[in-house]
Amino acid sequence: MQGRFHIRTFGCQMNQHDAEKMSNLLHHAGYRPAQAPREADVVVVHTCSIREKAEHKLYSELGGLLERKQQRPDLVVGVGGCVAQQEGERLLRRFPRLDFVFGPQNLTHLPALVDGARQRHRASRTDYDDDPQARFELPERHPEYASPTPGRAFVTVMEGCDLFCSYCVVPRTRGREVSRSSRTILEEIRELAAGGVVEVTLLGQTVNAYGRPRPGRISGEMPFAGLIERVAEVDGIERIRFTSPHPIFMDEALIRAYAEVPQLCPHLHLPIQSGSTRVLRAMNRRHTREDYLQIVARLRQARSELAITTDIIVGFPGETPRDFEQTLSLVREVGFCDSFSFVYSERPETPAQRRGLRAPPRELALERLQRLQEVQRELTLAAGRRRVGERTLVLVEGAGQRRPGQLRGRCPHNRVVNFESLRPPPAGSLCAVDVTAATPHSLLGRSAEDAPAALPLL
Ligand code: SAH
Ligand code: SF4
Ligand code: F3S
Repeated sequence: MQGRFHIRTFGCQMNQHDAEKMSNLLHHAGYRPAQAPREADVVVVHTCSIREKAEHKLYSELGGLLERKQQRPDLVVGVGGCVAQQEGERLLRRFPRLDFVFGPQNLTHLPALVDGARQRHRASRTDYDDDPQARFELPERHPEYASPTPGRAFVTVMEGCDLFCSYCVVPRTRGREVSRSSRTILEEIRELAAGGVVEVTLLGQTVNAYGRPRPGRISGEMPFAGLIERVAEVDGIERIRFTSPHPIFMDEALIRAYAEVPQLCPHLHLPIQSGSTRVLRAMNRRHTREDYLQIVARLRQARSELAITTDIIVGFPGETPRDFEQTLSLVREVGFCDSFSFVYSERPETPAQRRGLRAPPRELALERLQRLQEVQRELTLAAGRRRVGERTLVLVEGAGQRRPGQLRGRCPHNRVVNFESLRPPPAGSLCAVDVTAATPHSLLGRSAEDAPAALPLL
């Protein structure tokens, strides 16, 4: 018996999926998951560094854990993810009871790091891999970690980022852009489909850069749109999603895929960051406001019902009231169905930090954030209301949170749908649902099977 582990994960979907990979690796090494963190012999804090607040979550988590280790010296505590990569050995020096630190490019070393810690060997693995493909060579997924929710799974297609937006820590923490070979991606998806997965989300920091040749690195063998077409050919795959794309890689072929590949979901999360070309330039986003609007127009021509969501940063250094108004006007013009918005947070050793750029006062940024979120709330609710009366296909995730007996799932547009059903369908199945109402965060509905007369499926 090797003992029990617990992984506490923060951050993006890539981090969530990396935690699944880590669980799988520990499983193959003989460890089993703990029912509760307190029962674990090995605890890994899997960190995110995107904003200061995310990094702070590590320190509050670690305090309690290392205190527990004082009473239980055989407890193994490690830190992984983007803060681990950023801080490296500094974490070992700052926390003398911490056993090991490892960055995202080194997650395959986790079982060896745990074994080492049990022999009182402290270690830090934050070197960038000599062989970046090695991190994609992982043991077969144990069913327990195959997908976070029945029927759905994440699949990594590329990692890293070569774009260096001036605010962003990711190129430093995730390293250089590497595309995985299409052969291993498709093999993995075929296996998932054989195990009952109907929806895959292709993951990458700039996922639609997939396949582009980079100096000294293999190309992935086909462009991203080609990969999507091949994934759509896999028997059993009904839904394809991807995250996060960058506007500069929304090429003609990928836009055409929205018209030609029915499995490609009618939802796109396409970060804009700012509606002002001036600010976009300062952020090094490599496109203008007009470029973005044009991409949106072409996408909607390809797939009229496309739901578009985005990420926005407010209070970037130099953002004037006029720049901010342009963000508001762009949000209205595109009519985003939802957005994630954040106040700019200075990150260590990013181009903006190195240039010593000064952000507007925090109160001002918070005020802008509030105004933006108000506009978004209205747009989100309006988008939801337009769907009342529609019949949609929901991938069932499990019990709903609003009322007992209610079920929860997601529609193709990626909205959460809470719905009632006289004969509850199992998690992981697709269920036709009539949308009856919209709330700020979800749609409400009723299983189409319960409807008095069959309505046509929209
Ligand atoms: N690779 C993705 C973004 C990943 S980070 C892309 O290029 O779009 C997710 C989001 O966090 C970003 O879209 C951005 O809106 C936000 N973000 C990143 N760095 C930030 C920072 N320093 N301060 C505030 N928000 C930030
Ligand atoms: Fe960060 Fe920009 Fe790369 Fe996205 S594209 S991960 S925001 S540097
Ligand atoms: Fe955070 Fe790293 Fe993801 S910084 S958002 S966990 S790539």
